[in-house]
Amino acid sequence: MARIRAREWGGVEYWTARISGYLQGQINPQHALPPRTCYIATEHGSVVGFVAGHLTVRHGCHGELEWINVIRERRRDGVASQLLRLLARWFFQQGAFRVCVDVNPANPEALAFYMRNGAERLNENWLVWNDIRIVMGKQRERARRTRDGRTLEASSQQ
Ligand SMILES: CC(C)(COP(=O)(O)OP(=O)(O)OC[C@H]1O[C@@H](n2cnc3c(N)ncnc32)[C@H](O)[C@@H]1OP(=O)(O)O)[C@@H](O)C(=O)NCCC(=O)NCCS
Repeated sequence: MARIRAREWGGVEYWTARISGYLQGQINPQHALPPRTCYIATEHGSVVGFVAGHLTVRHGCHGELEWINVIRERRRDGVASQLLRLLARWFFQQGAFRVCVDVNPANPEALAFYMRNGAERLNENWLVWNDIRIVMGKQRERARRTRDGRTLEASSQQ
């Protein structure tokens, strides 16, 4: 996960500490509550993408998507959409329906991805799903193992 994140910015060491601290509850985004989870997508044993999120009271929301990343070589193949559906299901199971995400306005790929998946603009830097079930409804979760051997695995911390 750290290696994937470090491809965008920052170093592997920085992201290893940040992501493990976050998952262990030692590093907390503003207004975060303890429950949090992450899902990874693997292909032939390598991580090709991941998503992480937590419960929150930020912006009057119940959940926040913290990170979603897919390696460049595997983009536009629905990996992030599948990961988002898994996270949406987790939020739903937690009773967290209103979910926000911080988006850099200069990141058109992320904006397009979130809007395509039903998010709406909250303000310049934030998007919101007023009801995360819209993500679950867009497509029933695909089989956990896809035709090309990609597997979605879950690990969670609460
Ligand atoms: C944003 C990101 C996670 C999308 O991952 P992905 O696996 O390529 O997304 P999907 O294949 O599931 O895309 C679903 C839909 O989102 C939209 N979308 C995704 N990437 C897009 C792009 N670069 N340009 C325009 N639309 C895009 C499209 O509508 C796409 O459907 P389509 O391919 O049928 O047209 C990926 O580009 C990424 O890792 N970016 C770097 C990290 C980042 O910016 N994360 C978000 C902020 S933390």
